[in-house]
Amino acid sequence: MSKFKIEGGNLLRGVINISGAKNSAVALIPAAILCDEETTIMNVPEISDVDSLEEILMCLNADVKREKNTVIIDSKNVENKIIPEELSVKLRASYYFMGALLGKFHKVEMYFPGGCSIGERPIDLHLKGFEKLGATISEEGSYIKLEAKELKGNKIYLDIPSVGATINIMLAAVKAKGKTVIENAAQEPEIVNVATYLNNMGAKITGAGTSIIKIEGVNTLKGCFHEVIPDRIEAGTYLIIAALLGNDLTINKIIPSHIESLISKLKEAGVKMEVGEDYITVKEVGNYKAVKVKTLVYPGFPTDLQQPLIPFLTQCNGLSKVTETIWENRFQNIPDTIRMGANIKVNENRTAIIRGKTKLTGCDVSATDLRGGASMLICGLIAEGTTTIDNIKYILRGYDNIVEKLKEVGAKIELI
Ligand code: UD1
Repeated sequence: MSKFKIEGGNLLRGVINISGAKNSAVALIPAAILCDEETTIMNVPEISDVDSLEEILMCLNADVKREKNTVIIDSKNVENKIIPEELSVKLRASYYFMGALLGKFHKVEMYFPGGCSIGERPIDLHLKGFEKLGATISEEGSYIKLEAKELKGNKIYLDIPSVGATINIMLAAVKAKGKTVIENAAQEPEIVNVATYLNNMGAKITGAGTSIIKIEGVNTLKGCFHEVIPDRIEAGTYLIIAALLGNDLTINKIIPSHIESLISKLKEAGVKMEVGEDYITVKEVGNYKAVKVKTLVYPGFPTDLQQPLIPFLTQCNGLSKVTETIWENRFQNIPDTIRMGANIKVNENRTAIIRGKTKLTGCDVSATDLRGGASMLICGLIAEGTTTIDNIKYILRGYDNIVEKLKEVGAKIELI
């Protein structure tokens, strides 16, 4: 099994270009099957989650051409087959085939999705939404069947502004008869990116990016070109690295407003940065002070950056606090971080209390999930000595060319 080996403590200089957003791409690719023609998606990240979706598309008989960061999908000959369990458990986002296939064929048979175990991760809101559109649902173990004689627009209120449920309902509703209104919709930038893609195909969606999304059903969707937005979580991860090790390090090809909550937290801790239109540069590492962070839905502090922020907080002077409000089980990286020398306690209110500043020392650690893995990688980059990380398959699910990007700016990291 491959591992990362990192020699820590090197300052980093140069430019890191950010790839397309994983959480957009993993919804755009299933959305392509709603189209009756060929669509081209550009700026798709080279990550294993995209490989897994490509496998599902091929299993459904879509014609897929992938060349570096461009994916061309022709859905003319798509067949409504059962998606096998070994494919759907490879990633969380396989659930977007529920909305897309339901929208296209009014029937889906597949297995429950997989993904990182960062909490219970129910999909009840997705299913309630499909029911409101007219689908009946039967489940047997992990097998699920959705079927609708006809899909009809409806008003759907989400108890929680779930990213997945918002996108999935949009996918099912674009070809439904009449008008669907999603209330208390999630407002993440990835939702806007997916709505724009569908609108480019001819869908009639308004309000994406606000809490009320309106969808007027259409009969056909035509081919189009579309670009994935920059990955705000990848950008945030490298910005945290820049704050810790930047010696004139630029994080490039980003939309800074998408990570405003992180930028303002880092500034509060004392990080000096130059924020440009599509880049952020950290000229030098400073002396930082402790801060308090609470994860929230967009535009609040993203839960996906909470774990990568922990190594930064170990280097801040004083008592920092991180409260996780979205997922129940998102401190799995903490035990290994403590083994490296951090002083962290997690209490029953899903709050990690980090006393800094502490020196971190390299050791053998493990990636427990995607962002937890990124967190361990950052620990390795700032630690004294050698760190090896196993289970890196989690990290490769979401970070495009991570070794190359870090090596390019002077990090001592290799895949062994
Ligand atoms: C997406 C992101 C993930 C991120 C999360 C929150 C993708 C592929 N993944 O996950 O990286 O951490 O948003 O920003 O885009 N919930 C329910 N019932 C549901 C659905 C969700 O109770 O049917 C709850 C979840 O348990 C969780 C909260 O709602 O507590 C948010 O989940 P959601 O926004 O749906 O996350 P995902 O779309 O799975």
